[in-house]
Formats: sequence, C-alpha cells, structure tokens
Amino acid sequence: MTKRILIDADPGIDDACAILLALASPELSLEGVSIVHGNCSLEQGTINGLSILELAKASHIPVAKGCEKPLVQPSLLAPETHGNTGLGYAKLPDPQNRPVVQHGCDYLIEKILSSPGEVTLVAIGPLTNVALAIRQEPRLVHAIKELIIMGGAIRHEGNATALAEFNTYADPHAAHILFHAGIPTTLAPLDVTYQCILTSQDVERLQNIDSPISTFIKDATRFYMEYHDDYQGIEGCVINDPLALALTFAPELCDYQELPVDVDISGGVSMGKTFADFYNYEKKPANMKVALGVKARDFVELFLERMEMLAGSVGV
Ligand code: RIB
Ligand code: CA
Repeated sequence: MTKRILIDADPGIDDACAILLALASPELSLEGVSIVHGNCSLEQGTINGLSILELAKASHIPVAKGCEKPLVQPSLLAPETHGNTGLGYAKLPDPQNRPVVQHGCDYLIEKILSSPGEVTLVAIGPLTNVALAIRQEPRLVHAIKELIIMGGAIRHEGNATALAEFNTYADPHAAHILFHAGIPTTLAPLDVTYQCILTSQDVERLQNIDSPISTFIKDATRFYMEYHDDYQGIEGCVINDPLALALTFAPELCDYQELPVDVDISGGVSMGKTFADFYNYEKKPANMKVALGVKARDFVELFLERMEMLAGSVGV
C-alpha cells in the first residue's frame, strides 16, 4: 500500500531534490505540491515546482499557488542560498503546465478533507500555507494523518540568524500556530539535516548516467555548494528537505524524542528560534516527535541510489 503524501514547498534547490526523491520512491504516491514564499518568490517557486515535475515526467501532479508573504513578518527570500531563480545554476525549460486555479490553502483543505486520516503532509518551506489552511478549516487538524516539518533548530545554531532556522524565521507566527494545533507532528530540524551533506563526489557519481535529472542536480547543487562553502565553511551542501521527505517511508533513519517544542514570537533577538523543554520545566505535554539523531550517510546513499534510478528512467 503506497503512502499518500502532499508536499508544501518553497522550491528551492533542496525542495526540488525532495520532490524528485518523492517521485523516485515507490512507497509514496505524491498527490500534489502547494507552493509558498521562501527561498524565492511565490511566482518563481510556482514556476520551479511545475518545471521540476515536468523534468521528471510527472506533469500530471497538480501544483497549487499559495501565500506570497508571511502572516506578519516582512517578506524574506534567500537568493544568496538558492540563486535568483531559486534553482541555482540549473536552467529548466519554461513549464508547459499552469498551476490549478485554487489557492494553495484551498487545495490543501480540499485534498485532505476528501480523504480524512489518509494523507501525510510534508511541509518543507515556511509554514504560512499550512497555518492559514488550519485557521480557515479547523477540521484539518484531525484530518491530516501526519505532518512532517523540515524546520527549526533545537540544539543546533541557526542558518537564518545565529539562533533561528530559515523556515521558522521566515514565518514564526505560522510555525507557532502549527506547533500548538494538536496535529500529529514530526520535526526534522537542522540538528539532523545539517549532518546530511551531499558532496561534489556524490554529485559526480550521478553524472555516470546521461539524464536531465543528473544535469539538473549538478547545476543546482553547484550554486548551493558555493553558498555552503562561502557562508558556513561546509564542503558540499546540506540536503535538508530530502531528509524530511525520506521520513515518510524510512523513519528509521532518525532517532526521536517526544518533546514540548515552542517557537519564539516575542520579536527580539531570538525571533523564530525553536526550543524544546527537555526537562519539562513548564509541565506541558509533548507536542511533537523531534528527530535528534540521524544515520546521515545511510540517508545520503539512499538519496543517491534513488536519484540514479530516477535519472535512469528519465531519458534525455
Ligand atoms: O533551513 C532550511 C530550510 O529553509 C529548507 O527547507 C530550505 O529549502 C529553506 O526552505
Ligand atoms: Ca524548503
């Protein structure tokens, strides 16, 4: 039985890799992609989402355009990380398809309420779409089978500020709504994703297969690796979103703790910082499962094997 999933993304280089991983995973049925502001503008992210699906010969999968701005915070994009197009140095043909006419929030509501308890939502961008969707339709809280969030930094330093991770910093109020909504949630924070580094040698391995998928990954990650080297002294690039996606079918890649987790929305220096009450000082129940350990190299190998399979199936 395949697992039905929806992805809410801000494509984005690692978002693109997560979408490709979903398409390369026989355990999953990717039923739709909603787009949110973040790594690049909503307009650009929507084009990128459509183009990535067409690249992988999956243009039958709907794309829905969601929110172009955070709930309260000013807009925050990441051209230094993902380039002005959001896909680094990769050049994809303009998409033939158009997004569905529904707003991304309406699309998520319709898809999830039409099959209550059956759809897993993988949120790998700022959480604006998902937060607004549950405010618009509170029944979603009990209809989502599981929410997997790539976001936050628990014991790990931030990648948007010294303290905060990009997705929760870009829209901390949306994260706050979701952290307190009561949806069965798994969090994949920087604590685990920053251990998952794709190296240039890994990318070279994919070039043994003559495929637009291999070329895309090479061109997109070349920009992404330059960012990681210039800004963080990392050799390679951190594939955050593909790890979160992989937890839908390989949860054993990580070790988890059920913890009370919150996000700072007080507006000070730690705005958007996520934190876990490990000693339960506040005597609150755990509100999510937090991935704190990861078999990083096992995951990267899984990602590469599946990209090789996808590249092999998508000819030139
Ligand atoms: O902090 C990493 C996260 O922010 C990833 O989802 C990346 O794509 C950006 O959205
Ligand atoms: Ca993302």
